[in-house]
Amino acid sequence: MEINDRGRLALGGCDLVDLAETYDTPLYAYDEAALRAACRRYRDALAGAWDDGLVVYAAKAFLVLAMARLVAEEDLGLDVVSGGELHTALRAGFPPERIYFHGNNKAPWELAAALEHGVGRVVVDNLDELALLSKLAGGRDRPAPIALRVTPGVEADTHAHLRTGHNDSKFGLRLSTGEAYRAVELALDEPGLDLVGLHAHIGSQIMDLAPFTAAARTMVAVAAEVRRHTGWTPAELNLGGGLGVPYLPGERAPTPEDFVATVALAVGEACDGAGLPRPRLVLEPGRSIVAPAAVALYRVGAVRELNGDRVMVAVDGGMADNPRPTLYGARYQVVPAGRPRDPAAVSTTVVGRYCESGDVLARNVPLPRLQRGEVVAFLAAGAYQVAMASNYNRFPRPAVVFCCGGRSRLVQARETLDDLLARDRL
Ligand code: LLP
Repeated sequence: MEINDRGRLALGGCDLVDLAETYDTPLYAYDEAALRAACRRYRDALAGAWDDGLVVYAAKAFLVLAMARLVAEEDLGLDVVSGGELHTALRAGFPPERIYFHGNNKAPWELAAALEHGVGRVVVDNLDELALLSKLAGGRDRPAPIALRVTPGVEADTHAHLRTGHNDSKFGLRLSTGEAYRAVELALDEPGLDLVGLHAHIGSQIMDLAPFTAAARTMVAVAAEVRRHTGWTPAELNLGGGLGVPYLPGERAPTPEDFVATVALAVGEACDGAGLPRPRLVLEPGRSIVAPAAVALYRVGAVRELNGDRVMVAVDGGMADNPRPTLYGARYQVVPAGRPRDPAAVSTTVVGRYCESGDVLARNVPLPRLQRGEVVAFLAAGAYQVAMASNYNRFPRPAVVFCCGGRSRLVQARETLDDLLARDRL
């Protein structure tokens, strides 16, 4: 937590009360140097642990043009999951060969766009998509480089909505049914496709490294098995993202360095044990790059005293700009931006302004007595908030700024009331 010489909360050298004044609230403010530092930490950690590796930022966590450009400048790859994310990346000048196109039900037009722009990998999720892509890719000059997403059958200890590696997952080709092996055979037979590697992603907000080790070992075993059957050796192994971040004081998560070293060790040992050449290693962190780098700023409106010396305050945002508490029971550290060091005085529940009882951003947090008009900051707000924001109740979505060296710049304007009407027709 950065506190400036006025005793107020700051980010990238910018005073957060001033930012709220300048840009209005709700506001998402990102520390640009922290974003770049997080990209570099991952890149350096992988370069130190593995000969040939690539860190691919998972755009679904947060993507605007400025973020796509920053990721390109930091030499990372980009994981996109839709024609919209792809379009954003390309408009930002992101090199297509470093784009990985994911998704469990890509539309024909999205696959066609991926082929037309020459994305680095289409990560094929299922047999149906493999057939569709084969058809679209047939007859082109160059075979399309693909990877196959495999469901490794690994259970990660995280919220049920954030698990993707188990056998009932809606993502990927199952090992348990033999589907994954069948997909390899089919892909190798397709002249329009160039099967480069295998992919797995076990889930998100994972605070323990053991499931990553398990998934790495499983995937190397799959690679070895595939080689025995087909003679094909994956040149690339992509083990996805999923590293958790601390949201509350006292929570601890493994560092990106721990995560990278653990995965690299597991893949290295398993490859050596199986007599498999070491593949290019790809990792796809999203949350752990962007979550810690941003705060969400709200202004306090209605204050209500509750029985038992509890207080409820309503802020000018809520579940439409941050659905995570409602969807996953996510919890946050809340700080009064103008007086971060003031001692807690009362148990406070922070609710949003949307017409829904579940619109509670933080429950029973010890805080100073908040006043109408004061600015509160939710910390570690950089991942899956702006990205998941909606227009519920027809509220305009918040503005987003990047802060660096005490200066701020708007990277996504606040929606206007007319923006809300732009797609309506009478
Ligand atoms: N790669 C793939 C294939 C993914 O599906 C995801 C996230 C990532 C990488 C990045 O995972 P991360 O490092 O960010 O954990 N909306 C939820 C999170 C959904 C994650 C979806 N996939 C939330 O707010 O917690």
